Amino acid sequence: MIRKKIAEVLECSDILKEFIVYGWVKSFRNNQFIALNDGSCLQNLQCVLDFEHTSEAIINDINIGAALEIKGVLQESQGRGQRVEIQISELTVLGKADPEEVRKTILSPKKHSLEKLREQAHLRVRTNTFGAVMRLRSKLSFAVHDFFQQKGFNYVHTPIITGSDAEGAGETFKVTNFDLKNIPTTEQGEVDFSQDFFGKETNLTVSGQLEAETFALGLSDVYTFGPTFRAENSNTSRHLAEFWMIEPEMAFCELDGNMDLAEEFIKYVLNYIVKNCPKDLEFLENRLLDEEKNKPKEQRSPMPLREKLNFVIENNFKRVSYTEAIDILKNSKPNKKKKFNYLIEEWGADLQSEHERYLVEKHFKCPVILFDYPASIKAFYMRLNEDGKTVRAMDVLFPGIGEMVGGSQREERYEVLVEKMKALAIDPKELWWYLETRKFGTCKHSGFGLGFERLVLFATGMTNIRDVIPYPRTPQNAEF
Ligand code: 4AD
Ligand code: MG
Repeated sequence: MIRKKIAEVLECSDILKEFIVYGWVKSFRNNQFIALNDGSCLQNLQCVLDFEHTSEAIINDINIGAALEIKGVLQESQGRGQRVEIQISELTVLGKADPEEVRKTILSPKKHSLEKLREQAHLRVRTNTFGAVMRLRSKLSFAVHDFFQQKGFNYVHTPIITGSDAEGAGETFKVTNFDLKNIPTTEQGEVDFSQDFFGKETNLTVSGQLEAETFALGLSDVYTFGPTFRAENSNTSRHLAEFWMIEPEMAFCELDGNMDLAEEFIKYVLNYIVKNCPKDLEFLENRLLDEEKNKPKEQRSPMPLREKLNFVIENNFKRVSYTEAIDILKNSKPNKKKKFNYLIEEWGADLQSEHERYLVEKHFKCPVILFDYPASIKAFYMRLNEDGKTVRAMDVLFPGIGEMVGGSQREERYEVLVEKMKALAIDPKELWWYLETRKFGTCKHSGFGLGFERLVLFATGMTNIRDVIPYPRTPQNAEF
């Protein structure tokens, strides 16, 4: 007998053929109709029980949440809502679920808030919403590899434990294996990290970029896709302490090529799910429309989910220099009603998220690539422009999300890079290996980092980053 996933059974036309399916009970009506789900798709499989010939003990164990093995024959369904169903010939309850206990969890069949689901992160994958989001996340991951592999990029596994802080922002988690009862200290009484990690001070990586750069200068086109860690205490719906980042790096490539790749990449992965995941997207779109009915008109999103994805896929991103963006912001009208001010005082200031949102959502009404930022607000490795005050940086800003991508053309000139490091009090000795790439066959090269969870947020229409990663790591949440 052939075992099939429920997604396959629902598409199958082998009527009267016998199959084995496994799954968890979603509902059980009239002692006869079991809705079974195995997570392979959104839709449940209706399995019809011959209750007159089934023992009461078994019927009593068919409760919501229980795990079942079902053998049965595929037949056309008489009922509405499904094309086919399974007429059960043999049913085994593999794992029981006590209804009293289930009632206290998010498995109980009623609408639970996303906050409530987060409290039971170990069970939420069995809900329709979270199941759909996680399937889309998986498909997006596949599309990421598909895109780069088709283009001949090599996938590089950069280290998780490193000795460098690529972004120079000091937001690293230290790696220690100290005996907490006996923390080594220096003569000044400070924690002596030099005694840690086999005698070297290390941290969890904030970005694989520096190592990816060294690989690009040998393999030409590479990408990383791995977890990164930031000890920033920002409790927002866009930040995690542990998030996954995709970082391509290309040798012999300047900023324009970098922008082209970022735009092509985002369009490719979004198009991939539009084509391959219509049912999950439709479900999430309807969920959003339902939710928005209760919101005031001005807070509703202007487009349904799939229309929004298609809009991004079909339209060019707007490319604007930082200086042009500042002019737009300077001329914008303050929005008194919402109690904040889009106006920006000075060239050189870092853009706040309200500025980014104004540019993307109010002014251009499409994704925007901002480039050529002031050197003073960007990382040390970005290539200095001829004007001596801006760098070849780019950020891709998205409606409803803000910064989706941060990237740049890298400073490939040895002397300029060393000067820059010194000016920012970064000891060139610490990054001797990185600097050597500028001594031996240096070349123009560029890359970017895309926060994977921010992409999943946009693609699913979810609004909190904690709801698009299996186990969110935030200042409040590390229980699981
Ligand atoms: O702009 P960031 O800090 O850039 C870098 O790390 C570069 N080294 C990338 C590169 O050029 N290879 O981070 C890149 C992206 C951001 O645009 C954002 O999407 C995401 O990573 N990101 C976060 N996502 C979730 N939680 C956080 N705390 C994030 N910080 C950055
Ligand atoms: Mg950034």
